[in-house]
Amino acid sequence: MPASQSLLSLCISCLANYTSKYHTDIKTLPPNIKDNLLKIMSNHGTVTDTNISQMLHSGLQKLDLQDCKVSDSALKQLSNCRQLKEIVLNCRKENCFNISSEGIKAMALACPYLCEIALWRCCRVSDEGILALAHNCRLLRILTISGCSAITDASLLALGQNCSFLNSINFSVTQVTDEGVIGLVTGVCSQSLKEIDMARCVCLTDEAVEAVVTCCPNIRILLFHGCPLVTDRARESLEQLIRQNKLAQLTWTEY
Ligand SMILES: *[C@@H]1O[C@H](CO)[C@@H](O)[C@H](O)[C@H]1NC(C)=O
Ligand SMILES: *[C@@H]1O[C@H](CO)[C@@H](O)[C@H](O)[C@H]1NC(C)=O
Ligand SMILES: *[C@@H]1O[C@H](CO)[C@@H](O)[C@H](O)[C@H]1NC(C)=O
Ligand SMILES: *[C@@H]1O[C@H](CO)[C@@H](O)[C@H](O)[C@H]1NC(C)=O
Repeated sequence: MPASQSLLSLCISCLANYTSKYHTDIKTLPPNIKDNLLKIMSNHGTVTDTNISQMLHSGLQKLDLQDCKVSDSALKQLSNCRQLKEIVLNCRKENCFNISSEGIKAMALACPYLCEIALWRCCRVSDEGILALAHNCRLLRILTISGCSAITDASLLALGQNCSFLNSINFSVTQVTDEGVIGLVTGVCSQSLKEIDMARCVCLTDEAVEAVVTCCPNIRILLFHGCPLVTDRARESLEQLIRQNKLAQLTWTEY
């Protein structure tokens, strides 16, 4: 690393520890420094509803808030971040459960170019939030809604109707049924879907697996372990794919 570069990173990581003292100055820093500062503060979990606005800027492309105590209020402040492409909002800590559909809706309206969204265990996000994403973020490619216990088939149906670039979806540990999966895989993303994680979705049956096999010619990863209603019949329908050597990863549980 050139000396000037390392001095700059040193200054930024030092600043990250004292941001509350300099908040009026931080607002005026150039975007690349704000990006670095955000990255460090995200790692330290020190981004909050009250201080996030100082570091947001119109060219921001990536935001990871999974270790931070933030709520819908932080997401509502993204109104000026039209270029945002990736956001991680996984609920890894108890006090992160504050993100709801209201915040997701605000984000969906403000950030039409989002293509990668992670919402693991956001149990206050319901279909209303996912519908807003499906309607406003047509470029969505990678979506994790694993453990989002409030979502239903309506979310999968909406994604299937609007998101033609959807490449990877993880809705493991949710209550979705065959109807939702069929709606998704027969939708506009049937050709683009390469990865589906629907493990531990206890309502799914063979029909869901068969629908994926029939409708998604480009599927490479299909996970459906922990689905007690899926039987040997589903495995038979997979045999053709296995023979063609198309699958990179496949998991299931035998009951
Ligand atoms: C944001 O808030 C956290 C927690 O209060 C604090 O540690 C951090 O320095 C603040 N950052 C800014 C930019 O004000
Ligand atoms: C999240 O909600 C809890 C209780 O509902 C509250 O105590 C906490 O302050 C909230 N956190 C944020 C960042 O809003
Ligand atoms: C997508 O969402 C919009 C609502 O924003 C809706 O009017 C439209 O019918 C949906 N479907 C497609 C294929 O675009
Ligand atoms: C789906 O999400 C869960 C929870 O975050 C994770 O453990 C699992 O590895 C993910 N699946 C894939 C295929 O990445």
